[in-house]
Amino acid sequence: MLTTIVHLITGSADLAAAFLFMYGLKKMSSPVSAPWGIRMAGIGMLVAILANFLQVFTVDEAAKPHLLVNIILAVTALALGASVAWFKGRTVAMTEMPQMVAIYNGLGGGAAGAIAAVELLGNKTHGLGQLLVTLLGGLIGAVSLSGSVIAWAKLDEILKKPLRFPGQRILNATVFVAALVVAGYIAFAVHSGAPALLPISSIIWIFFGLTLLFGILMTLPIGGADMPVVISIYNAATGLAVGFDGYVIQDPALMIAGMVVGAAGTLLTLLMAKAMNRSVSNVLFSDFGDVSKQEQGKMVGSEKPEEASDAGIFMRYAASVIIIPGYGLAVAQAQEKLYEFVKLLLSAGVKVRFAIHPVAGRMPGQMDVLLAEAGVPYDLIFQLDDINDDFANTDVALVIGANDVVNPAARTDKSSPIYGMPILNADKSKKVYVVKRGQGKGYSGVDNQLFYDDSTFMVYGDAQAVLVKMIEAVRSLGAAAA
Ligand code: TAP
Repeated sequence: MLTTIVHLITGSADLAAAFLFMYGLKKMSSPVSAPWGIRMAGIGMLVAILANFLQVFTVDEAAKPHLLVNIILAVTALALGASVAWFKGRTVAMTEMPQMVAIYNGLGGGAAGAIAAVELLGNKTHGLGQLLVTLLGGLIGAVSLSGSVIAWAKLDEILKKPLRFPGQRILNATVFVAALVVAGYIAFAVHSGAPALLPISSIIWIFFGLTLLFGILMTLPIGGADMPVVISIYNAATGLAVGFDGYVIQDPALMIAGMVVGAAGTLLTLLMAKAMNRSVSNVLFSDFGDVSKQEQGKMVGSEKPEEASDAGIFMRYAASVIIIPGYGLAVAQAQEKLYEFVKLLLSAGVKVRFAIHPVAGRMPGQMDVLLAEAGVPYDLIFQLDDINDDFANTDVALVIGANDVVNPAARTDKSSPIYGMPILNADKSKKVYVVKRGQGKGYSGVDNQLFYDDSTFMVYGDAQAVLVKMIEAVRSLGAAAA
């Protein structure tokens, strides 16, 4: 009777958790409702975890002696994980987000791999189908763990250069094939019960060793700059591994959560690749961003420096300004100063809008989040397709910490690594101000003709410092008039 009640409650809780995950994900599609979406998915997670604790009432006699220890271990792990994540989540800087996502994603993959290892080492799988799914979950989870750790180290600049050497692809392929062969052998030995060459537990450890090694080898040659896409790929992989584990241990909430993450991660990867006009295989197997291999075109014209105060005053008297934020805005953490400046322009009657490129920054939606953090109203924020035609009728395009997303080479230069990527038409506006610290290249490592155009003026400096000067200049006008 008790078992039936527990199953009824956990079944309903799984259903509720699945609904909350999906509804939360739907809400995350708009910046307005995203905070609620995140809370809902979090509540779904809590419901699924609490429901799992009810399983203590249904364990069989053999498991009862370990029950207390297992509960203590689970609660300790939950408390540790939750407090570290809570602290990190509150203190992480916007520019460190990709690293944080990488490491948490890796831990998810590791957890999926660990579940598969426990099932395999404890010989708990039933039938060949379940055995194969467990092996697949273990393989994907372990690759995702070690690959994500390397991605994290690259993003954190612990590993500074991509490691490439002759014969690397052959080595990677050999390790991958070896992992598959060992997996096949485990499936054969466990399923047939035939005596194995080594104790089966040792073969299982060899399998996990090979898969972890493959994750490392596969990620090492990829340039640090491509890591956001790689993380998204590993994110999809982790989801898939978790979904497989859910099937193996017959946990519907795990299955649904895993599949939702897997599908969302796959879509995100494809969207990122499409917005950069690159294929996923180009991300994984090319040397993108390796400037030594790129032909740098000759730039026509010269860079013309402009004082921040003069640029600020010019914009104060313009009729319309479109602001293009990029990665440098996040580095400078200048979003609040930017909005302060925008408010001054708006109160002076200037029409001000923000133009967001789908891959501006280093993470999907990074610019939207930055602007939302500063309190910029959503009706001032426009996505590429909705604003690109308006640049031609705009007095000033203010490019702030952005580079690749306004590089005209993407339209014209077939040899450029960013050729074909849609860009924001800053060069079509009447005047362009570019705020950046110096001659630093963008993510792709290529020169940008926009900086040398006749109508472009460079306002050199850290975005935050430049904006402070612009604000002071516009304020001083008001003070002088009074
Ligand atoms: P980038 O092309 O990376 O250019 C950023 C510019 O900001 C640099 O030229 C840098 O020049 C400047 N900068 C850095 N720190 C600054 C500071 N403190 N103050 C002022 N300027 C600063 O950025 P973007 O235009 O946003 O383009 C994003 C790139 O990332 C694209 O190529 C995209 O494909 C790639 N990418 C994006 C994503 C996602 S999902 N967003 C994922 C993978 C790759 P200085 O050093 O001279 O200051």
